[in-house]
Amino acid sequence: MLKRKDLLEIKSLSEDEILSILHTAKDMKQKIDNTALRSQELKNKSVVTLFYENSTRTKMSFMLAADYLGAKPEDLGIATSSVNKGESLIDTGVTLDQMGINAMIIRHSLTGASHLLAKNVDACVINAGDGSNEHPTQALLDMYSILEEKGKIEGLNISIIGDIANSRVARSNVFGLTKLGANVTLAGPSTLVSKNMETLSKNVKVVNNIEEGIKNADVIMGLRVQFERQKTMPFPNTREYHQFFGLKKDMLAIAKEDVTIMHPGPVNRGVELSTDVIDGKNSIINEQVKNGVAVRMAILKLLLENR
Ligand code: CP
Repeated sequence: MLKRKDLLEIKSLSEDEILSILHTAKDMKQKIDNTALRSQELKNKSVVTLFYENSTRTKMSFMLAADYLGAKPEDLGIATSSVNKGESLIDTGVTLDQMGINAMIIRHSLTGASHLLAKNVDACVINAGDGSNEHPTQALLDMYSILEEKGKIEGLNISIIGDIANSRVARSNVFGLTKLGANVTLAGPSTLVSKNMETLSKNVKVVNNIEEGIKNADVIMGLRVQFERQKTMPFPNTREYHQFFGLKKDMLAIAKEDVTIMHPGPVNRGVELSTDVIDGKNSIINEQVKNGVAVRMAILKLLLENR
């Protein structure tokens, strides 16, 4: 059981808490395809999504996860809400609290937005991504996917490549994967990954050469170049980025033979990964999406079932 009101970050989760979510997700995954197994464990619970930034996977998988467990999901369409009349995040949260919402799932461009909301509402708050800080549920689904594919995380060489500096996915994965005993290499151009990131956790190495970064890798996780978070273009153009920092099929020979290719999505095809890598036999990118529903079902169940 998660003895917490909220799920805001991986940084402060214990190894036991992470494993409890991953074990529960395994039970949940069967319910996605086999509708007969779906239950009403969260009947009468209400869940609302507050997405101040765009999303396809995270928002839809949370809404479906709630539905598959019998809860009632609603989306506060931010664009048509009173946020556009100037209502603050806290006032929006308190308003929803008064309506009896049991869980609020928030994505926001500001670091710490989910923490601020959690301090001011009785509902459970789940961070669906805050600025460049953390995206805990993405890291949990990534850890689940690696465990399912490789049978373990401890001792694996996991390379995260691309736009690391702006990536909340990279930060959450660094915290989670190293807690579970992986060796993490962060690789990208010096404009998109800082040597300082080695201080995030033990067993983290930063390199500025992709070939060096993926050497002997068990898992390679590509990250999207987040053009929306760049103040200035960090490289001349996307064609040159792909040439020097994109993962191409012939480069997979540098990694282990059974290397697993991952990406949180959405992918810029032909920028961080070539299309034949994205759609190739080593890729589990589509399975990650399904695992996202299972992991989010587990999180909702563990946070809400005893409230
Ligand atoms: N990986 C991820 O967060 O995708 P969305 O932006 O589509 O939710």
